[in-house]
Amino acid sequence: MDDKKIIFSGIQPSGTLTLGNYLGAIRQWVNLPKDYHCIYAMMDMHTITVRQTPAELRRRTLELLALYIACGINPDENTFFIQSHNPNHAELAWVLNCYTYMGELQRMTQFKDKSSRHAENINAGLFTYPVLMAADILLYQTDYVPVGKDQMQHIEICRDIAQRFNAVYGDVFKIPEGMLPKVGANIMSLQEPTKKMSKSDPNPKAYISMLDDMNVIAKKIKSAVTDSEGVVEYREGDDTKAGINNLLSIMSSVTGREIDDIVKDYAGRGYGDFKADVAEAVVEKMKPIRAEFDRLVADKQYLLDICKKGAESAGRISQRTLNKVYKKVGFVI
Ligand code: TRP
Repeated sequence: MDDKKIIFSGIQPSGTLTLGNYLGAIRQWVNLPKDYHCIYAMMDMHTITVRQTPAELRRRTLELLALYIACGINPDENTFFIQSHNPNHAELAWVLNCYTYMGELQRMTQFKDKSSRHAENINAGLFTYPVLMAADILLYQTDYVPVGKDQMQHIEICRDIAQRFNAVYGDVFKIPEGMLPKVGANIMSLQEPTKKMSKSDPNPKAYISMLDDMNVIAKKIKSAVTDSEGVVEYREGDDTKAGINNLLSIMSSVTGREIDDIVKDYAGRGYGDFKADVAEAVVEKMKPIRAEFDRLVADKQYLLDICKKGAESAGRISQRTLNKVYKKVGFVI
């Protein structure tokens, strides 16, 4: 490999990507390959920590890949693979399990959250989820991991495990850094605009899925929660204005226009007009992505070929780290 820094990102094929994920993060990744070596993995092994319908998991895994490509992340410039296609993840995770303490895992907020939401299935995989995630990252000597704030605790534990291992065996792992999306589009829930737009929101009207039909997208925007003031104006930090602020950010983000400039168009006009225009602008942005997605999903062999090629390359890179680890801990190799 050349001397470009390595970015590794993992995405779970559960739920779907939202407009917030796209505008806030994915869109910015299109240009990364100029400066970084980017590796994207569909984390099916993490996904089964919560019960899944097998056929759906399979479908979603390839759909996720298709969606990333449709968003402009070029499979010729980036590595895409499916986690379960590279057994090194499970193998390194086992070793790292032996270097991770129960107490550390018990403190993980996501574990506490998920075990209260899935009280009937608090399985060991859910508990050691962060260890598998650490393996994902450390296998590739990753420099940066683009994540949302909610995943920062997992990056921290990954760094702790890596440092602990390195302290015993020397420099085996690169210590990765979490990379929060650049400020810019912070897209909020359409129903409770002081909360982040999230794919796991129980109310589907709160978020726009990248795979929503165009008329559904328009409807969701038109029924977004606003306020009763009736003035299209951006007021940072004013929670009563959070709905309008959010729609303005979305509009600015999909059109590339400055918020102040957009506001001028709506002097003396109501929210109805404004929402209709936001809906139209978002639909315009999504249409070509959706069309490309539909085209790709229909070509399963193409997607499988990308995964195969990606898994080979991921396997090669990660094997070097795994060999080092096995040697260090005393396995006969
Ligand atoms: N836990 C991450 C999430 O839910 C997904 C993930 C798994 C991941 N392994 C990873 C993200 C490695 C980054 C790097 O979003």
